[in-house]
Amino acid sequence: MFQMSRRNLLTATLAAPLATQLTGFAAAQSAGGKSYPAGPDDERFWAAIAANYDVTDDITNVENGNWGLMARPVLDAYKTHTERVNRENSYFARRAYWPIYMGVLEETASRLGVTPEEIAFTRGATEALQNIISGYNKLKQGDAVMIADLDYGSIMSTMRWKARQVGAETVEISIPEPATHDVVIETYRAALKQHPNTRLLLLTHISHRTGLVVPVREIAEIAHERGVDVVVDAAHSWGQMDFEAPDLGADFIGFNLHKWIGAPIGVGAMYIRPDRLGAIDPNMSAGPDEASSIHGRVHTGTSNFAAYMSVPDAFAFQDRMGWPQKAARLSYLRNLWVAPCRAVDGIDILTPDDERMHAGITSFRFRGMISEEDNKAIAAYLLDRHGVFTVHRNGVTAGACVRVTPSYYNSAEDMSRAADAILDARTHFLG
Ligand SMILES: Cc1ncc(COP(=O)(O)O)c(C=O)c1O
Repeated sequence: MFQMSRRNLLTATLAAPLATQLTGFAAAQSAGGKSYPAGPDDERFWAAIAANYDVTDDITNVENGNWGLMARPVLDAYKTHTERVNRENSYFARRAYWPIYMGVLEETASRLGVTPEEIAFTRGATEALQNIISGYNKLKQGDAVMIADLDYGSIMSTMRWKARQVGAETVEISIPEPATHDVVIETYRAALKQHPNTRLLLLTHISHRTGLVVPVREIAEIAHERGVDVVVDAAHSWGQMDFEAPDLGADFIGFNLHKWIGAPIGVGAMYIRPDRLGAIDPNMSAGPDEASSIHGRVHTGTSNFAAYMSVPDAFAFQDRMGWPQKAARLSYLRNLWVAPCRAVDGIDILTPDDERMHAGITSFRFRGMISEEDNKAIAAYLLDRHGVFTVHRNGVTAGACVRVTPSYYNSAEDMSRAADAILDARTHFLG
């Protein structure tokens, strides 16, 4: 059983001899003549990581926000697990699967810094958050839920749906630009003060629209002082940033493992703080024996056995990079394109350089180009002219934008290519 917290494990890992701890990785270390951990700018180290990813060379992919492709060792393990599940069928599912599943759950909980009783697996962040929000039983007629423009569309809809169900109000706020640590906190403080009937607040730890990191812990404290419960959408943050679930100070959290943990598509997790289990009704399909367990708060039906079985393989690959190290690498790659672009008039960078406020994702907007069509055209230009793949995002009150999302396999050269492409597009569109 996996008993250590991830932080403890990491400390132990770093203290142990490299060659034994970093199988398959030592070559990069000795080639670079460096001791672990490698810095975020150590291209030889990161090239050795990138060598584990089979990535199309048709384009420079800096749109890794949709989901995270599996590294080859994870894909290989996933194939092996799939073959076993398929070969052994119910003989496997009814006899061997449960202990494996429980082991994976325990390891996942440990890496999130919680007990296995505090999390349940889902198929993604959406399923986790839908079940949390729909099952939330503290909202009454006349209360309010609060969402912001940078939240994720379908989760905003889930919050609106919940409010409608009970005759509550949905308060929708906008995060001002430029967003700073203080501005974001004060925006939520003022909104909560202005809407004292708020009972449930949605916070998106990393916005999929702009990449902004919301200071969840600070805002959750303010919310809790006002008796407001906090549900956090951590779809983009776990793995992209280095933290454990309790660090967020939230009541409820939805995660996935198919973005920044590199597990197969179809793995997520729901966290409910143990003393808040009673605030979430059991799922409509839960049996009576599940009423007092988090596992009764989601009911997926038959799911992808092999995907869950591959989670430890995904963790093991993440360990090769080091968790704080991969967070630092993503920020570094972000800075490589942001710095030259920010220096140019007409390009607005939608996350501040304050390290608390961004991770790897950041969006930009050409001044005055705020429509969805404008930003689709910019993304198309980057792809057609430069082979740089990004994605437009809309829904931000101040206007649509283009998102740039590097991943673990991207090189410094990829980011220079992205920066050059954006600078050329700026000249093309703004003159
Ligand atoms: C902020 C945010 N929330 C939720 C989701 C949905 O996550 P999942 O695909 O794991 O259901 C996404 C996916 O892109 C997201 O970016």
